[in-house]
Amino acid sequence: MAKVLVTSALPYANGRAHLGHMAGAYLPADIYVRWRRLRGDDVVFICGSDSHGVPITLNAVERGCTPKEVVDENHAANGAAFEQANIIFDYWGRTDCPQHAALTQEFFRALADGGYIDDGEIEQYYSEVSEMFLPDRYVEGTCPRCGSDSARGDQCDNCGSTYEVTDLIDPRSALPGDNSTPVLKPTLHWFLRLDKLQGAMEEYIDSRSGWRPAVVGTARGWLKMKSPDGAVGLRPRCITRDTEWGVEIPIEGDQVVGKRLYVWFDAPIGYVTFTQQLFAQRGDPDGWRDYWLNPDCEIYNFIGKDNTPFHAVTFPAMQWGVNQSQPSDTQYQLATEVVASEYLNFGGEKGSKSKGNAVQIGDFVARFGAEPLRYYITSILPEENDSSFTWDEFAHRYNGELADVLGNFVHRAMTFAHKYYDGKVPDGSAAGEAEAAQRSDIDRCLRESHESLDGFKLRVALSRVLDLARAGNRFFDDKAPWKQRKEDAAGCATTIQICLETVAALGLGLRPFLPESATKILGWFGVSTDDAMASGSHDTRPATIASVGRELAKQEVLFPKIEAEDLPQ
Ligand code: 2FM
Ligand code: ZN
Repeated sequence: MAKVLVTSALPYANGRAHLGHMAGAYLPADIYVRWRRLRGDDVVFICGSDSHGVPITLNAVERGCTPKEVVDENHAANGAAFEQANIIFDYWGRTDCPQHAALTQEFFRALADGGYIDDGEIEQYYSEVSEMFLPDRYVEGTCPRCGSDSARGDQCDNCGSTYEVTDLIDPRSALPGDNSTPVLKPTLHWFLRLDKLQGAMEEYIDSRSGWRPAVVGTARGWLKMKSPDGAVGLRPRCITRDTEWGVEIPIEGDQVVGKRLYVWFDAPIGYVTFTQQLFAQRGDPDGWRDYWLNPDCEIYNFIGKDNTPFHAVTFPAMQWGVNQSQPSDTQYQLATEVVASEYLNFGGEKGSKSKGNAVQIGDFVARFGAEPLRYYITSILPEENDSSFTWDEFAHRYNGELADVLGNFVHRAMTFAHKYYDGKVPDGSAAGEAEAAQRSDIDRCLRESHESLDGFKLRVALSRVLDLARAGNRFFDDKAPWKQRKEDAAGCATTIQICLETVAALGLGLRPFLPESATKILGWFGVSTDDAMASGSHDTRPATIASVGRELAKQEVLFPKIEAEDLPQ
């Protein structure tokens, strides 16, 4: 039994998680977790709110509340939305808690003691009206690229370009009620010496060549980044910000007043904090060590592609740096694989809070339920390329695949068994070549689905399960049991047993993807999808589940059709 730690990117508690987030980091992780548990592995699934970052403070100022209130609200709403979609974390934490601050500060101290953090003076915009240094997000001005006059400090929403805040034309303070022209002033900040960690990270990425090519490509791109001075490779990165919302810098003195650790320094450490909190809650405060400090534990980070550099380079570099001062048996394990997704787009664009173009998880579930959502999103997961969400395609795929193919097949097979075999699995011993081929098709589809799950190809894995239903419908049509019943009783019984085996295989195959439907289907055979099944103490072969004489419960319609008028207009 392998030990497995799965994390989903911690969503910023600055807004609501939408289907774009779900497709990137949460649903794939949930499916993978369910799959590894079915394989009998010991899996811990960690997530929580990323509570820090300057945008949260801006949001709070705009709304006239505290950053903590913004986090409280979104933390609760996002936690509930994931649950509604049946994305079930073992722990849903938040990074604005004392334990996380303490662990983050431990990381900082260990890195500083090892020579991996230095301080240095930089020039930064200062508002003489508000008497404070302005983080990039608190500066607005004219875009140096397209001339838009509402460009943000480091990024222009109009043309999408990013730049240094000092490149902005006519900068002004974005603090409410300020609007003054800021001045450049020297200020002290702290830097992670990524340049000293270059070699270690090159070795790390070279040892992970089996990752998705885009992830390896982005990581290698960072490792070869060209600085303005022409140097190639990782450069020291500023890990502090001028803000009062964040983890305190663990240094005494006036020089840290009004400054906090950068959100991307503390956030990934949240994965560790939340694992510690989970095991403390389970009454086993040292249990987290079996995952994070265990060379045999597999660690998978599911993220959206914009998070790749932080997971594939910066965080492993921090862990590696901390490990240098640790005895060999208490070293942090670096991710086995960073599983990054491309984007799920809405109307041709990435989902964005400011544009409000993305569909909220809760809204979808309230309309159509979790299973249709999980089905459609899995079938369009942006694993290799960006993909697009549309309501029309959702209805088309749901009606055409779930209702017409899967639901219809299950319904035909179950109805026949109830009508002509007294609700019991008939004897399928009169099998010839076609029947043997059908049985081996069932095995092949399940095997291929499992292999795809192992390789994080979840779209293919789900489509192999659908193939079972397609093959089932073809077999049912070819054999025409409504005729066979009158001409060849033994042959008909065999047809129906094999169809019921296919139904059972669907129940098995759907478990990681559509857990509620899988539970219903297997329940009709009197089989429960409980832990005993996962641990292997139940026989999970379709032929055993649909064995001769097994009583069948009455089925229900799994996927009622969606009409055009049910869709949002
Ligand atoms: O992009 C985001 O939403 C970040 N809050 C992800 C953080 S992942 C982790 F490292 F915490
Ligand atoms: Zn611009």
